Amino acid sequence: MQEQPTTQGRDQFQSKLGFIFAAAGSAVGLGNIWRFPYLAGKNGGGAFVLFYLICVIVIGFGLMLAEFVIGRNTQLSSVDAFKKLDKRFTFVGAMGVLAAFVIMGYYPVVGGWSVAYVFKSILGQFSTDSAVMGEVFGALATGISQPILWTAVYLIANIVIVAKGISGGIEKASLVMMPTLFVLLVILVIRSLTLPNAIEGLKYLFVPDFSKLTGDVMLAALGQAFFSLSLGMGCMITYSSYLSKKENLVQNAIVVPTMDTSVALLSGMVIIPATVSFGFDLGQGPGLVFVTVPAIFATMGPVLGRIFGIIFFLLLTLAALSSSLSLLEVVVSYLIDNRGWERKKAVAGSSIVLFIICIAASLSMGAWSGFTIMGMNIFDFLDWFANNLLLPIGGIFITLYVGWFMGKDKVKAEVTNDGTVKFAIFEVWMFLCRIVIPAIIAVVLLSGIGII
Ligand code: PFF
Repeated sequence: MQEQPTTQGRDQFQSKLGFIFAAAGSAVGLGNIWRFPYLAGKNGGGAFVLFYLICVIVIGFGLMLAEFVIGRNTQLSSVDAFKKLDKRFTFVGAMGVLAAFVIMGYYPVVGGWSVAYVFKSILGQFSTDSAVMGEVFGALATGISQPILWTAVYLIANIVIVAKGISGGIEKASLVMMPTLFVLLVILVIRSLTLPNAIEGLKYLFVPDFSKLTGDVMLAALGQAFFSLSLGMGCMITYSSYLSKKENLVQNAIVVPTMDTSVALLSGMVIIPATVSFGFDLGQGPGLVFVTVPAIFATMGPVLGRIFGIIFFLLLTLAALSSSLSLLEVVVSYLIDNRGWERKKAVAGSSIVLFIICIAASLSMGAWSGFTIMGMNIFDFLDWFANNLLLPIGGIFITLYVGWFMGKDKVKAEVTNDGTVKFAIFEVWMFLCRIVIPAIIAVVLLSGIGII
């Protein structure tokens, strides 16, 4: 029997910063530091970045606010929120759970690489020679037992934290981690930009070449905006369900994407100029950060480079962890709330299945690379399916729901805290939710998958 959703006895974030850091902790992760730079490198640079920024401003802000409205209004996690508001939309919540599951089928593989690189930093295996760095990364990513072992280490960290329901500790930790990561990235930007020929990389990153803006590049940018902001899958609905009725939702929907995007742009400004300066391949894909950043450390000398390497990959691991926790929690809380499982069973059950998928994703980088789905290996397929398909479709329905079905008065009362907070562009935002955002997503989606 399925229970009626209830909001009794729920915790709330005790302070404004508590929520911002939890939401930013989910948003800032591998998406910003690992995925954004390699996609920018692969998809032609400036035009991709520009379209990404447009997506963040127009869609990211609007959709995040829509998710906040649903979450705080119902004070329920995503599936239950839709069940309570309008049963016809329950599938949107369910699709989000699927998306979280699919992403968790490969995210821990990259998390595992990051853990491995903490140790590689300690051992000082870094060099500015692309052949050496390519070999170090290749040996790890295309191996069999090593990457699976590191994936397991990373996944176990997630399991322990989520099983104990102590993710609050991680969120507190991000109060310190985030600013540290930020400072470190700024230092690395300076190091990177003072390398010879770095300016060419900066141009590549920021000067758009519109001939590169094809349908699949636009879809990649859109998918990246969703992935990076943790949108389209109900994660932000769930987080904001814990938000107090006094909080200003609009402000939060501006601050979180701003923080997230700053980290992505800083990472891009570290990685792309250095890649160009060292003469590495910009289009190499998922290995980019693991090849270029260590090479930057190699230029800092054996001691300093090592220290920076350890701190950087430790922070990358922790940033990844605070994101994947929110993903695993989406899956686990669904099994608890909607399937009546106990927390421990939900964590164990989902993790076993996820580990098996992660093994397949990891092997698809090497031994199983010959096996492809729609021309992609398993790893790339999972990534593409979740980010370029499930999340955008989720985004369409979430904004359509808030725009057309939730009821304008109810939406307005929620965004403005019953009229006590000003939101001058309410009508504009409603228009975005009703027409602009769903239309842009639909067009980009259809052209990205080659239908238009
Ligand atoms: N936003 C995270 C990142 O950039 O790494 C990934 C993510 C977390 C996506 C949570 C979706 C989500 F619900």
